[in-house]
Amino acid sequence: MKLLLVGHGGREHALLWKLHRDAPEADFFITRGNGGTADLATHLPLDPGDIPALADWALAQHIDLTVIGPEGPLADGIVDAFERHGLATFGPTRAASTIEASKAYAKELMRRAGVPTAASEVFQDPDAAEACVRRRGTPLVVKASGLAAGKGALVCDSPEAALAAVRSMLREQAFGTAGREVVIEEKLEGEEISVLGLTDGQRVLPMLPAQDHKRVGEGDTGPNTGGMGAYAPVSRVDGALLERVSREIFLPTLHALREEGRRFRGVLYAGLMLTEAGPKVVEFNARFGDPETQAVLPLLRSSLLEPLLAIARGDTLAGSRLEWEPGAALATVLASAGYPGAVRTGDELTIPTAVARAPDLLLFHAGTRREDGRLVTAGGRVLAVTAVAPTLAAAAARSREAAAAISFAGKHYRGDIGWRELERHARAS
Ligand code: AMP
Ligand code: GLY
Repeated sequence: MKLLLVGHGGREHALLWKLHRDAPEADFFITRGNGGTADLATHLPLDPGDIPALADWALAQHIDLTVIGPEGPLADGIVDAFERHGLATFGPTRAASTIEASKAYAKELMRRAGVPTAASEVFQDPDAAEACVRRRGTPLVVKASGLAAGKGALVCDSPEAALAAVRSMLREQAFGTAGREVVIEEKLEGEEISVLGLTDGQRVLPMLPAQDHKRVGEGDTGPNTGGMGAYAPVSRVDGALLERVSREIFLPTLHALREEGRRFRGVLYAGLMLTEAGPKVVEFNARFGDPETQAVLPLLRSSLLEPLLAIARGDTLAGSRLEWEPGAALATVLASAGYPGAVRTGDELTIPTAVARAPDLLLFHAGTRREDGRLVTAGGRVLAVTAVAPTLAAAAARSREAAAAISFAGKHYRGDIGWRELERHARAS
C-alpha cells in the first residue's frame, strides 16, 4: 500500500507516526517533510498547495490513500482534484470545507440547523459593522470570515477595541481577502475544548476531547498562536456530554451539509465553549487540529488507517469504533525566537539521547530541517514533546522535563500546559 500525507507540520508528523504503526509495511510519502519525518516517509519536492502536480504525481504512483493535513489545500479543492483522478482521499471537498473557510457560511449553516453557537451578525460594509458595535456594546468578538491561520478572531472588551478591529479588517484590509467580510458575535464564557469527529458524512466517531492552549504565555497571557500545547482527555467532557455534542452539534451539522449537497467526509473539528447553557460552537475546522492531534493520536489504540480508508473510499462508518488507551497524553510545543511574530530560524537543536529514545515520549517535529547533518529550526512552532502516562500529572511532568532538556537558541515554551485539568484533579483529591 502507498500513502501520501499532504502537509509538513507537527500534525502531519503525528498522523504519519500513527498510520505507520497501523501499516508498517506500507510506503509513505509526504510533501516537503521536516527534520523528523525522513525516517518514516519519502519527502516529495512538491508543496501542499501545488494541487495539479500533486494529483498527477499521485495518479502516476498509484497512491492508495492521500490524507490532507492543512486547511489551505482543502479550501482550494485538493480533494475535488484527487477525486476527479479516481484517487481515494481523506478530507472534505472544497464545498464541504467552506464550513471552515467561511465563518459567515458556518454561522448561517448553524442557525438553520439549530446548532448552539454565539449569536452573530455578518458585515461587509464598515459603516454597518461600526453601527452594530455601537448598538451591541462590548464585550464582543470581531472575526475575519476567511482563513486567517487562527489569528483572525479578536476578543474585544471595549468599544474602541471593537471599532479598531472592524476598521483594520474592513477599511484597512489588514487580513487581506479573509477580512473582507466580518462576523461580529457575542463573547461566550466558559472553558474551551476541541472535539474531532471522524465522519463519513452521516455518522460520526468522536475522538477523545482535547484542550489546546492558544496564548503564547503561561497563565494564558500574550497574543494568540497556532497552539502552544494540548492534552487529552478532558475530564469535564464525560460520555454523556460527548453524546450531547454528537446529538446537538455534529449530527445536525452533517445533516444540514448533506441537505445542501455538501456531504462532509473527513474529520470535522468542533471548537466548543462549555458554557453554563451547555456546549456551544466557537468554530468548525475541516481538518485535524494542531497540536490536538499530537495529544490525541498517541492514545488511539485501534487503527486510524481503517476509518480513514473507509471514509476516503466513500464507505460507511457503520460498525466502526475507536478504542482508546487508558491514561493521558500531554504535548508541549517548543517555539522559535519571536513566535508568534516574525521568527528567527536556522538555530541548531540538541536533543539528548535519553529524550530521543524514551519509550514514553514522542517528538513530533514541525519547523525543523536537517542541514549538513545538523537539525536546525525552520519555523515558528519547532516541535511538540508528547508524553503518555497513567495520569495527566505524570504526563505533564515528563513532557516539561523533556521540553527543558531539548535546547536551541531562542527556545520558548509553556510549562503550564494542562493547568485547568491539573487544578481539577488537585481539587478532587
Ligand atoms: P476562531 O478563529 O473562531 O477559532 O477563534 C479563535 C479564538 O478566539 C478561539 O479559540 C477563542 O479562544 C476565541 N473566540 C472566538 N470566538 C469567541 C467567542 N464567541 N467567545 C469567546 N471567545 C471566542
Ligand atoms: N489548534 C487549533 C487548530 O488546529 O485550529
